Order: sequence, then structure tokens, then C-alpha cells
Amino acid sequence: MPLLLVPFASIVIYIGALAIYRVFFHPLRKYPGPILAALTEGYEAYYNIVKQGAFLVEIERLHAVHGPVVRVGPNTLHFKDKKAFHDIYTHGRNLIKEPEFYHSLMSHCRESSIGFTDPLEAKDRRSLLAPLFSRRSVVALEYTIQTKIDKLVTILEENYNSSDTSLDLSAAYRSLTLDIITSYCFAESTNALDVPNFSHPMIIGQHDVLKRLWLQRHFPFLATFSLKAPQKLIRWLSPQFEGYLELRTGFERHISRLIADPESLSIAEHETVYTYLLAPKSQDRPSLKSLVEEGFTLVGAGSDTTSCACTVGTFYFMKNKSVRQKLLQELSEAWPNKDRPISFEALEKLPYLTAFIRETLRLSPGIIHPLPRLTNGTATTVIGDWAVPPATSVTEMSILFMHMNPDVYPDPGIFKPDRWLATADEEISEQLDDLSPFMRGPRICLGKNLAWCELYLIFANMFRKLNLELVIDEDTIEDYSRDYVDSFEPTWKKGYRAFIGAPRD
Ligand code: HEM
Repeated sequence: MPLLLVPFASIVIYIGALAIYRVFFHPLRKYPGPILAALTEGYEAYYNIVKQGAFLVEIERLHAVHGPVVRVGPNTLHFKDKKAFHDIYTHGRNLIKEPEFYHSLMSHCRESSIGFTDPLEAKDRRSLLAPLFSRRSVVALEYTIQTKIDKLVTILEENYNSSDTSLDLSAAYRSLTLDIITSYCFAESTNALDVPNFSHPMIIGQHDVLKRLWLQRHFPFLATFSLKAPQKLIRWLSPQFEGYLELRTGFERHISRLIADPESLSIAEHETVYTYLLAPKSQDRPSLKSLVEEGFTLVGAGSDTTSCACTVGTFYFMKNKSVRQKLLQELSEAWPNKDRPISFEALEKLPYLTAFIRETLRLSPGIIHPLPRLTNGTATTVIGDWAVPPATSVTEMSILFMHMNPDVYPDPGIFKPDRWLATADEEISEQLDDLSPFMRGPRICLGKNLAWCELYLIFANMFRKLNLELVIDEDTIEDYSRDYVDSFEPTWKKGYRAFIGAPRD
């Protein structure tokens, strides 16, 4: 054989041997699923990249064909079973975040609360940040949220008060939650609401950044390249990342200043994440890189998730007359003088608003892609009714499958806040136990208290103060009305337009 053919033949033999191993000898060989998925991760990549995030739709189809557990990758099992969900996430203390998935998806913020896959590192970081996200802190800093909502309400009243001046409400909500999270975490706001037409570079660039996350997930070298390459080159190649590069540079400058002069922390208007992250003595303190990555994580995790819930909830509020009437009646009784502020704690006591938010979160969990966990140790892990082999197996289940379970939520595709109304939580305990928009277990969302507070204040203020009218666009209505799982598409496609109608009494 000519010498040049040797490497080529070796590669072919290696691929052939790997294919035979994956199909006939792999510990997951007995689980059902398409042969292509057993052979290559390219199966998932195809749906996520070429079909723009439609892997979940494909998983739904595979479950219809193969039953509650499917091999969706060479090393990965996806479950559609509530007991399995709780075994993986709620009680899954011996399962860890799957490093390959998180390290590639989060390669721009690997050393951060969301990016750490090592349970000890994650625990240390969570315990540093937890005080700022406790209920007590959220209540103390509620005014930072209210100030931004007031600003948005004024902008909408002044500029979008006829059907000729309608706005893309999702862009308005994304600007709002970006300003809230930066103000809450850093006492320095991005002031995205000040940019006309909600067109701050980070809002405009968001779609591209989300799309790039999937490329980065399957081709991690892209993220390494963009982190190492000169910023000028990145700006030239991808102008849509401008806002994010600015944010990163801003974090670097701000944190370096704080490290050089810790006294300046006390100048901030209120406690910030750095009050806690810089508190440990220098040797235990997170590195500059990790501090920057944490800042990035908090902005990403705390803005798009909440704005998406606002976009979805407001849509159903405008579209569903009976929901709208019930909510407005409850709000006007509890809050007769809308010119005086109402507190988060007062709003939490309103049963219909609470039911409305729960239903919104059921249809708008922050992350709908399955979040993979790795079985560790040497023993078999029991997940639901299945024994999963040790060490190398990845198990996962999308939160959306929990929220769309007709046994727990009848007519799951329909927005029905009434399903949450009960005289005692025990009556709806199964629904509550399975509602997991913030995930469950040791890696549950760190910003959950903040998110709830934001949702109460945003919905109450927007609905009570503004007469929101939906601009009827058949494509959008069609999109939202179809069965939710069938209509799963990247969240950024879920925009719609609205305007502020004549003032209400
Ligand atoms: C409606 C709003 C929100 C939803 C639905 C949501 C949902 C989630 C979900 C599903 C996870 C789990 C991710 C995983 O397992 O990989 C998560 C994690 C996280 N969220 Fe949220 N989130 C929301 C708002 C927020 C806010 C306001 C913050 C504040 C900064 C935040 C910060 C975080 C952080 C730091 C993590 C990582 C926790 C860890 O891995 O230990 N989230 N969130």
C-alpha cells in the first residue's frame, strides 16, 4: 500500500470500528432509537443547527415511535417519564452536569455558576452568590426593578399609543430585563431602555448570539477562536457581537478597578455581586477571568429567560378575554389607586395573578433543550424504571415534557390559569411538584426569587397601567395557537406586535 494511504486507511478503520462498537457493543445498545443517533452526535447537531433548534420536536417524534426512553445520541438517553425526571434532576445528587455539553455551550463562561460542572466548584460559587439572590435581598432591592418598569411604562405611554405606532413587545421586554439584571447585580445599568425603538446592540445581536450557541455546542473551537482572536477581527467578522464585546470589556475594566481599590465597592448605590464575590481573602477569591465570566453568566441567565416569560404571558393576557377580565378585576380590587406603587409581597397574595404566572412559566420554561446529566461512579444508576450503565452514560429530559404531561395538566397545550386555583396547595400538589421552569435539585436556578419578583411586578404594572392591544397578525396567532410542542421553535421567533389603546378607568 502506498505510504500516503496508511493514515487514510487508519481513519477508515477507526471510524468503522467505532461504528461497530456503538451499534453492537455499547452499554446503551439495548435502548431503542434511530441507528444514526446511535452512530453519531451529528444527529443532534443536524436538528439544532440545520433545522434551527428543532431537536426537541424530533425527540417528541422519537418518543411517539419508541416509547418513554430513547437513545438520542451514541452516549445519551432521553426520557419522557416524570419519575425519571425527578430521579435525574430533583434527587439526582450523584449525577453531575455533563461536562462536554456545558463546556462547549458555555465555553465563553465556563468558570461561572452555570458553567461549573464539578459539584464542589458549583457549590462554592453558589454559596458566595446566594445572599444577593435570597428573598430578603430581593425584597430589599425591589425598587431597582420598579424603577425600570416605571421607565418602560412611560416610554410605552408616550410613544406607542396608537395602532400606527405598534412595537415589538419582546424587544421591549428584553431591554427591560437587561436593564433590571444589570442594575440589580452591578448597580450599573446597561440603559437599554434609553435606546430608541428598543434597539440596543445587545438586543439586536441576541438572536445571532443564541444561534451561535448551537454552533459553539457542536464546534467548540469556534468559541476558543473568538475568545483568543483580536477583538478588532471579531468585530469585523461579526458586528452583531458588538454589544457583548462591549459588555465583556466593561466587566474587565470595572472588576480590575474594584480589585485595585476595594474601598470603591462602598460607593455603589447598593450591594452588588462583587460585594460577595470579592469578600473572600485573596487566595480564595475567584480569578479575574472567572469574575468576568460570572458577570456574563448572570446577564445571560437573568435577562432572556425572564423576558421570554413576559412575552408569552402578555400574549395570552391580550388574546384571552376571560383571563384578561379576571386578572384586571383582581388587580383593580387589590390596587385601586394605580398611581401609588404596590409591593411584591402584596402581589404575591393575589391568587389569580399567581395562577397566571404559574401557567405562564409552564408554557415558557427558561430552557427547553434537554439539560444533560452524567451518571458517575461505578454502579448502575436507576432512573425511573430503567437501569442505566455507570460512568459514561448521559441522561436527560426536557422540562417541556414535564409541563406538557396530559396526566398532570389536562389539555396541556391550552393556556388555563384556572388549573392552578385551589383553596390549598395540597389540592394541586402533583401539578406543583412537576412544575419545574427553574429546574430542580442542587443546580436549580439561582435567580428564582428574583425572577418571581420581576414577573409579579412587571405583569401587574403593565396590565394595570396600560391598555395593551394585540396587533392581529395571523402568522403569530397561528404560531401560538398550535399545540405548543409541535410549534416549538427558537424562542426569538415568538415576537409579536402590540400598542397601547385608549386609557382604561
Ligand atoms: C423566568 C425566569 C427564569 C427561568 C425560567 C430560569 C430557568 C433556569 C433553569 C432551567 C436553569 C437550570 C440550567 C441548567 O441546569 O443548566 C437555571 C439556572 C440558573 N439561573 Fe435561571 N432562570 C430564570 C431567571 C434567572 C434570573 C433572573 C437569574 C439571575 C441572575 C438566573 C440565574 C441563574 C443561574 C446563575 C443559574 C445556574 C445555576 C447552577 O447551575 O447552579 N436565572 N435557570
